[in-house]
Amino acid sequence: MMTLKPMVVSVALLCALPALARDQIDKSVDVKVDALLAKMTLQEKIGQLHQLSGREATGPESAKRASQLAEIETGNVGSMLNVKGAQDTRAMQALALKSRLKIPLLFGLDVIHGYKTVFPVPLGEAASWDLEAIERSAQVAAREASAAGLHWTFAPMVDIGRDPRWGRVMEGAGEDTYLGAQIARARVKGFQGARLGSTDRIMATAKHFAAYGAAIAGRDYNAVDMSLQQLYEVYLPPFKAAADAGVATFMNSFNSLNGVPATGSALLQRDILKGAWKYPGFVVSDWASIKEMVPHGYAADEADAAVKALNAGSDMDMEGEVYIAHLAQAVKAGKVPQKNVDDAVRRILRKKFEMGLFDDPYRFSDPKREQVVLADPQHRAAARDVARKSLVLLKNERNVLPLAKSGRRIAVIGPLADSKRDLEGGWVVSDVRGDVVTLLQGIRGQAPGAQVSYAAACAPGCANADGFAAAVDAAAKADVIVLAVGETWDMSGEAKSRTDIGLPGRQTELFQRLKATGKPVVAVLFAGRPMIFNEIADQADAILYAWFPGSEGGNAVADVLFGDYNPSGKLPATFPRNLGQIPITYAQTMTGRPVVDEKNIVYRSAYIDSPNTPRYAFGHGKSYTEFGYSGLRLDKATLRQGESATLSFELENKGKVAGTEIAQLYVRDMVASIVRPVKELKGFAKVQLQPGERRRVTFTIDPDTLSFFNGQLKWGAEPGAFKLMVGSASDDIRLDTTLQLQ
Ligand code: NOJ
Repeated sequence: MMTLKPMVVSVALLCALPALARDQIDKSVDVKVDALLAKMTLQEKIGQLHQLSGREATGPESAKRASQLAEIETGNVGSMLNVKGAQDTRAMQALALKSRLKIPLLFGLDVIHGYKTVFPVPLGEAASWDLEAIERSAQVAAREASAAGLHWTFAPMVDIGRDPRWGRVMEGAGEDTYLGAQIARARVKGFQGARLGSTDRIMATAKHFAAYGAAIAGRDYNAVDMSLQQLYEVYLPPFKAAADAGVATFMNSFNSLNGVPATGSALLQRDILKGAWKYPGFVVSDWASIKEMVPHGYAADEADAAVKALNAGSDMDMEGEVYIAHLAQAVKAGKVPQKNVDDAVRRILRKKFEMGLFDDPYRFSDPKREQVVLADPQHRAAARDVARKSLVLLKNERNVLPLAKSGRRIAVIGPLADSKRDLEGGWVVSDVRGDVVTLLQGIRGQAPGAQVSYAAACAPGCANADGFAAAVDAAAKADVIVLAVGETWDMSGEAKSRTDIGLPGRQTELFQRLKATGKPVVAVLFAGRPMIFNEIADQADAILYAWFPGSEGGNAVADVLFGDYNPSGKLPATFPRNLGQIPITYAQTMTGRPVVDEKNIVYRSAYIDSPNTPRYAFGHGKSYTEFGYSGLRLDKATLRQGESATLSFELENKGKVAGTEIAQLYVRDMVASIVRPVKELKGFAKVQLQPGERRRVTFTIDPDTLSFFNGQLKWGAEPGAFKLMVGSASDDIRLDTTLQLQ
């Protein structure tokens, strides 16, 4: 077990952190930016706001590519996405340097969970609740991407996701604001390092600003309708955390928010981000989202869309080609103030200076370095470490896990057992990727003394059952069955919303056939989202939720199956029992008719055909050992405004093996001017303990722990009683006490 965690965990809230103030920023860069800006024509300025994709570049003959290249040479392009590799970025940069002012290009790409070395999908990494590991994952991704000539990733996605129908929950940190904000900060630090400009880090992007995760009915690109209260309290804090961590850029989002497309929202971009938060970076639009304001019915035509987006604070047009086509005319016609264009250009140039591109435009594009860095074996080791930390043990009846490594017959069954591509998940962007270790390979490699048989039973989507008989045959001859099922890699991610989040095709039937053999079944589930799998939840002997674990996935899962690594992951999102419960979160708002007794739900806020409780709660995750919680202490029962209190308890490993617990602190404001959630996560501690070891874990309750946005959207804590709860999951509170705020 590699985790050694701090014992004292600050629960300071992001909202109180000072924004990165303008005066903290290197003034000498401003001087250079202004000097350059003074030399630029309007057309050259607009060129900086224009970003094109190289994805369609299929060869020198491609018409698109030829026109792109000419545009770059004339200084009409500020940035390219989807161009990668030291050679290619170098060649394209050379064209930009032929332009009159020789302003270098920024190269951006969706490096979402690794570049060459694929890490678990972000939702999986979030299940580790391990900020150091998550930071390291982003750092490795940055190291590889920067060596491939890239300057900029469109990550982290910090959208809160409470609707698992939405395919993009895969790319975020789950449903919780507090956890999401911590992870946002860790990812930004990992990608960017302490400050921009080092050649082994890249600029990060906080996306999608804002509220994209709340698309109605979980349908991608759909509208969002949300109170400002909810926006401020639940959806914005991870963005604020990213901004405070110095994230270089923001990306706006496809959705409309309360009737205004986010891309055209001055409230979001001018008032909140650049106004209240004093954000000094730039905002890139999402792919063609500026011109999509036309089909939204918010802009009359593309020229109108360009005017509305720029004036609202969208600085760079990603692949929409409407700024380059219409802004010059709009400025001349007085529809876009010159100062708005200058502000956008300044923000972009500032990043180019901070990245050192004016000193050496090729500093990231070094083919020799690319070769060395992409072959670094440490990256695989990091991927395995993060992958095993991300695994969540949902169930383990009669301690069927861990499995013995020798003397047993293990039937490895299922369409995902020997699949490489599916273990990577979506958003794998490098053409040269490391080999993927499948689950079958991981098991065979780690248990040479076991008799391992294998049957796929069906293709990944499991449309037909032709292979079931052979699988059942193999299972019948084994002592234990390891069943690998779940989503295929392309079932979650962008544009992958589902109305049925169950196991695809006939996978459940396959499970039932195997279960009927009477042999113990260990189900390993791969997915990019919380799925619904009630038959397996009820009848499997053990369930390990593996997400899409990446290049080292098979090794990581085998580490846990054989007990070389004691699982410690906890769910970063609620797993519903059925679709009707969605959207779902543990942090639901209190009601006037709560269910107090599941047996008596009449005229209560309940369903007549399902419990309110989820299948697996936020924060749930088992270990091969048991943890005891005792001795809760609060250093003061009453707190004055502005003071902090200390809450501590004893955590004990009561089992026979070393293990790591993620202890969670929840708070409930008992009476407030705005109805509060039943509980809210406000801190956590990841603690490794040897068998029999006890340790006192401490949380600091500071004023922000108790604060919320009131009816005037002012952040603060109101006097009264607060329930403080400590536990192993949101539905497994072990200790609680009350704190009074004066
Ligand atoms: C659209 C996606 O919404 C966004 O997240 C991504 O960064 C861009 N496409 C660029 O690929």
